[in-house]
Amino acid sequence: MLKLKLDEVINMNNLDKIVKFAKSTGFIFQGSEIYGGLSNTWDYGPLGSLLKQNIKNAWLKRFQKEHPENFLLDSSILLNNKVWEASGHISGFSDPLTECKKCNLRFRADNLIKNNNSKINPDGWDHQKMYEYILSNKIECPNCNESRFLPIKSFNMMFETFQGVVKENANQIYLRPETAQGIFINFRNIIRTTRARLPFGVCQIGKAFRNEITPGNFIFRTREFEQMELEYFVKPGSEIKWFEYWKKQCKDFLTDLGINEKNIKFDDHKKESLAHYSNATTDILYNFSWGFEELWGIASRTDFDLDSHEKVSKQSMLYTDPITNDRFKPYVIEPSVGVERLLLAFLNDSLEEEILESGENRTVLKIHPVLAPYKIAVLPLIKKNHKEMAQKIFKGLINYYDVTYDESQNIGKRYRRQDQIGTYFCATIDDQTLIDNTVTIRNRDTMKQERIKIEEIKNYIKEVCDF
Ligand code: GAP
Repeated sequence: MLKLKLDEVINMNNLDKIVKFAKSTGFIFQGSEIYGGLSNTWDYGPLGSLLKQNIKNAWLKRFQKEHPENFLLDSSILLNNKVWEASGHISGFSDPLTECKKCNLRFRADNLIKNNNSKINPDGWDHQKMYEYILSNKIECPNCNESRFLPIKSFNMMFETFQGVVKENANQIYLRPETAQGIFINFRNIIRTTRARLPFGVCQIGKAFRNEITPGNFIFRTREFEQMELEYFVKPGSEIKWFEYWKKQCKDFLTDLGINEKNIKFDDHKKESLAHYSNATTDILYNFSWGFEELWGIASRTDFDLDSHEKVSKQSMLYTDPITNDRFKPYVIEPSVGVERLLLAFLNDSLEEEILESGENRTVLKIHPVLAPYKIAVLPLIKKNHKEMAQKIFKGLINYYDVTYDESQNIGKRYRRQDQIGTYFCATIDDQTLIDNTVTIRNRDTMKQERIKIEEIKNYIKEVCDF
């Protein structure tokens, strides 16, 4: 029998623990580490890249493959500057920046206010109001504790770069700060080539870049990250129904993949704090180790994006209803989430430490089998005697699942290693395997073992990977 020490404790992982775990096991490494690192950049190691891939595949299945009306797109990171003019990113994609007069560190003014008093929400305040608040409340610099700041300026978060061999203004372009605009500018192409009828959606996964003033909390806020975005086009008037529908899909995605319901909540934006183009917006907040913060944004964006691109490109974004022949611009619902933020939430929710009856500690990543970097580890009990059979079984499984193979050290240590990285099953090959073609299958979570036939392994895994 097991004695579980932390089983009932919700969200027991603090961030340091997760960072240490991720670095020591090969999920995530510091970016440019051998050169002293580059701040707030992270590389995804052998396990982290598999986990990322599994998160993306799960999202694709739920948001694209299960919806025949949803199409996939892979648009450019580099886009014509007019795209950002039309979308409003050149004029408005900025954060309020202030600077400490003593230590010269720069901060987001709204964050200084929120961190000083969590009951105050400065979203929607102008710069003057924020600045007066900071001064009159003598808010201190988080670095040097001085209360003297420079007036607030707008800081555009788009990364600039140059295209071509001559570095002059004419060649200046931006790295995309979101994947969504690539979808809007392909709206006509998608309709023309797929003959899509409303409602329909376009899904895209890809890198986005934001020159965040205060990146941090490990992989929570970085300057380079991956987004998974769906733009779901609907008939005006039906948008709230679809907004509610996608809200539920996003929540189900999280809970079906094992996120504890207690660790998520919706933050429905009040009417007065909605962006001017939105008639409904919500964020799914996740209970990260420092508190609830945005994981997933879901917005009903009316026809703002199509309309803006129509005005700047002079290309019609009208849709013709095939039954009534009415011509109108569709409205859009946009669920948008970062892959890395999801990954952090999944690690946070599934990393556990147990004390076994033997008094031994067990670190186990109880992540949903669909997301587990490896579904199964194939382990020959004695290398000399069982290697050949084990490798045959390993090769038989690689066409279907992510499988790992481990023949070093005693079997107990190998089990612990696999538990720690979330491998859902271990198949041990021993003398009996050579006689009757059976293996011992051990379950990560219960640690129970049973004997099954080699040809049953595939279905055994399939049953738990049903998602
Ligand atoms: N197209 C809409 C859009 O980009 P957003 O709320 O700015 O909306 C959507 O971003 C999601 O992308 C966020 O909910 C978050 O999961 C992720 N995200 C945004 N900025 C990020 C950053 N700097 N680092 C990591 N993830 C980020």
